[in-house]
Amino acid sequence: TTIYLKDYTPFGYIVDSVHLTFDLAPHATRVKSRISFRPNPEATDTTFFLHGENLRLIRASIDGAEVTPEVTGGGLFAAAPAAPFVWEAEVEIDPANNTALEGLYMSNGMYCTQCEAEGFRKITYYPDRPDVMSTFTVRINGDLPVLLSNGNPTGSGEGWAEWTDPWPKPAYLFALVAGDLLAHSDSYITRSGREVALNLWVRPGDEGKCAFGMEALKKSMKWDEDVYGREYDLDVFNIVAVDDFNMGAMENKGLNIFNSAAVLASPETSTDANFERIEAIIAHEYFHNWTGNRITCRDWFQLCLKEGLTVFRDAQFTSDVRSAPVERIRDVIDLRARQFPEDNGPLSHPVRPESFQEINNFYTATVYEKGAEVIGMLKRLVGDDGYAKALDLYFDRHDGQACTIEDWLKVFEDATGRDLGQFQRWYSQAGTPRIKVEEAWADGTYTLTLSQSTPPTPGQPQKHPQVIPVAVGLLGPNGDEVRPTEILELTEARQSFTFQGLAAKPVPSILRGFSAPVILDQDSTPAQRAFLLAHDTDPFNRWEAGRSLASDTLLKMVTQDAAPDADYLDGLLAVLRDDGLDPAYRALMLDLPSQSELAAMLHDRGVTPDPMAIWTAVETLRQATAQHMQDVLPRLHSQSQVDGPYSPDAEQSGKRALGSAALALISRQDGGAQAASEYARADNMTLQLSALSCLLKAGKGETELAAYYDQWRDDRLVMDKWFGLQVALASPDRTPQIARQLTQHADFNWKNPNRFRALMGSLAMNHAGFHHESGASYALLADWLIRLDPVNPQTTARMCSAFQTWKRYDAGRQAMIRAQLERIASAPDLSRDTTEMISRILGA
Ligand code: ARG
Ligand code: ZN
Repeated sequence: TTIYLKDYTPFGYIVDSVHLTFDLAPHATRVKSRISFRPNPEATDTTFFLHGENLRLIRASIDGAEVTPEVTGGGLFAAAPAAPFVWEAEVEIDPANNTALEGLYMSNGMYCTQCEAEGFRKITYYPDRPDVMSTFTVRINGDLPVLLSNGNPTGSGEGWAEWTDPWPKPAYLFALVAGDLLAHSDSYITRSGREVALNLWVRPGDEGKCAFGMEALKKSMKWDEDVYGREYDLDVFNIVAVDDFNMGAMENKGLNIFNSAAVLASPETSTDANFERIEAIIAHEYFHNWTGNRITCRDWFQLCLKEGLTVFRDAQFTSDVRSAPVERIRDVIDLRARQFPEDNGPLSHPVRPESFQEINNFYTATVYEKGAEVIGMLKRLVGDDGYAKALDLYFDRHDGQACTIEDWLKVFEDATGRDLGQFQRWYSQAGTPRIKVEEAWADGTYTLTLSQSTPPTPGQPQKHPQVIPVAVGLLGPNGDEVRPTEILELTEARQSFTFQGLAAKPVPSILRGFSAPVILDQDSTPAQRAFLLAHDTDPFNRWEAGRSLASDTLLKMVTQDAAPDADYLDGLLAVLRDDGLDPAYRALMLDLPSQSELAAMLHDRGVTPDPMAIWTAVETLRQATAQHMQDVLPRLHSQSQVDGPYSPDAEQSGKRALGSAALALISRQDGGAQAASEYARADNMTLQLSALSCLLKAGKGETELAAYYDQWRDDRLVMDKWFGLQVALASPDRTPQIARQLTQHADFNWKNPNRFRALMGSLAMNHAGFHHESGASYALLADWLIRLDPVNPQTTARMCSAFQTWKRYDAGRQAMIRAQLERIASAPDLSRDTTEMISRILGA
């Protein structure tokens, strides 16, 4: 069944309080609930329906009198009085057999929960919808040393603990954790003087991996006070690390639960990229306390209200504590890698979807990352002051409420006086807008004509013009900036903008800072791009110039058998030689567009991508780059050496990023000799992994892989990298075989989402290997999706997106993929999650 945004109606009852008692037992946990309801004066439908799934109802009563509700697969109906009443129920659940990791489940002997979006209904009967908010009191009885829930601790004794959350919240923010855990503790004093106890709970053995996460938490708390004026509102803030988790982390009120990969870190076991991601996720979940928890969503169609905003806030945080240009470039790389394929394929959906079958399938790059881009555009359009005013009004007006995108936009209209009627299309219209650029020059006047169009997407054949903030600056012929950045507001299908009083025809720098999530179609020559690469004052567009030179040359290598372009190689060399440039930035300059991105570009130009031809072009360009940069590489590599102890900060990690980019090129020259010695002396995971990558790319590294295994076989997170790297870096011809062999490895615990993703996610990301002409990789992935679906539908469904780009490829590959998709679709008892994904991908 499909659920529609337009069908929203409020629930017939208001919940005033919830009391829960848990008697924990692995296979027979009893949950008693006592819930105060009263009729909702704003509702017309008074049906008393409570959600509930996989629950064994023991008994139920209303105002103390036993009732026999009508129980269905999705919940129960009961006759409710037209006056306030108390509902009580007792149910039994089986956390030890809950492999879907939704609701209350067990991971390595510890109890934990994941309720967003609709997992609370697997814990007890309840109106499991985000617009029903209540205070919760939770009593946990269990024979485990640590018993946690939301809010403040209000009592404990031998084998029990009680928690009270004074802030009304929807059920999706409920959490419970019980286990044999250790705390890494600290404290924080808020701006207004509240002392908050901070704990990061881990399994014994992981205590040494907590310090970084704790520091990130304190930084986030301070940042939200300084930048948004938002303070924490409870006496404790608990974070728990869990090994089996479907997503990155969850913002449960006062009790965040994290995938251990998203919080545990040490220099020996985590890369610089891991540290940076952990810092961002800690910030993200903490920021949800205001954008998500204090102000939540009316219904799940409004998911971007909390996620887009919170992603935007965590990106602001990362820009502030690290390097703003580097953060922006990384975010755009990520957007193009994950959101663009989604927005331009069969899974395309608006930032605010209008229908779904399974909401878990809509925790997407579109809702999150494009949702954050939309907020960035809003901020650009109303300015920093307008944005600050609007956010103050948002927190003032809507604290304690469950809101919609209409509420959000109204706040901006009221705070700034701006009409956002057309802007709203960013929330309702799917697809990535294309902008075409035309230039004209006469008598000192330069005219830029911009045209926008958005291709049709499923269910939306016709698109309307959007409000697109296009940041533009102009450079003079000598490379000096003759017009600083200004925001052109493109609102029509085609619109001209003039710049007067110029001495010579300028070179435009368009879409600075990636001011809108669009595809810019500009017919500039390699020489013009090289000019921007040398002179652009906007760091994003300078990088972008290099990037587009790289993709131009790669596309020509693929389609015309051209040689690597000299403008690209010379321009890159000049950038690498410029020691005034941040090493992290130079490392990003050395990065190439992904093979999948190149396939999309070819497809856009009407060429059917050949994965092996793309792979060959990339290899050839890499080889040519190594040769061309030969003289600077040793210096770049030695510059990357850091003095003193390891720190994951922006400065050191930037140096290491440049060093490993240099080592990768050096390895193409020396066959991995230097990488082997780097591997031997690596004393942190960043260097260890970068050296190992170089060796694997060079077709070497067998000894090192075995040594790595012996060194790290007991560390799950480090072993995930071992699985992932071998598949990610396998040469295309060997990819299916290497991946298949690894699935037979004793350590391939496929029920653990991190391990499954490490292997299968890397397979999907190895473009030429995944699209192996035999179809063996498609079949392997399909086999495993069919096997995982009954165990963990959420992770299965998510991984189906590996097939979303299938229509780009040749008829032979399309036929093979279609056969696999149909094979998955016909698996017996396929989950709702996977069924929806496969049918959307097939376009059925
Ligand atoms: N709200 C969480 C976050 O953004 C993600 C939860 C996703 N859960 C899910 N079942 N899809 O941090
Ligand atoms: Zn979030």
